[in-house]
Amino acid sequence: MIHVCRKEHFNAAHKLWNPNWSEEKNKEVFGPCSNVNWHGHNFELIVTVKGKPDPETGFVVDLKALSTLIKELVIDKVDHKNLNMDVDFMKGKMASCENLVVEFWKILEPAINNIVSEGSLYKLTLYETPRNFVEYYGE
Ligand code: NI
Repeated sequence: MIHVCRKEHFNAAHKLWNPNWSEEKNKEVFGPCSNVNWHGHNFELIVTVKGKPDPETGFVVDLKALSTLIKELVIDKVDHKNLNMDVDFMKGKMASCENLVVEFWKILEPAINNIVSEGSLYKLTLYETPRNFVEYYGE
């Protein structure tokens, strides 16, 4: 099996805020990410698929097709958006990287599995900052 990766970029605003908590507790737990008037991040999403190269193309996946699919299904819905307010699949959820990557997986997995030669979506990696990132394998 070969792992093939595609990196996409988006920027978005959010706020980490639990409405059941006091302002003090939100500030204590979420720090600068609790700022009432929002803040932004430059996110990087790395999509890793695994599969066997197609004998006719030598490709596990057509990276151009993969990029288009990620952009249409996910990036266009979050880029230059407010994750708390503008993104339908984040409504009612804490706008954390963890929750975001799980929602991305639900959207991307069936579509990506259709275009991978003898393989499937393997991992999503989501960078919120160059130092903070999450990895998700679908479970
Ligand atoms: Ni933040």
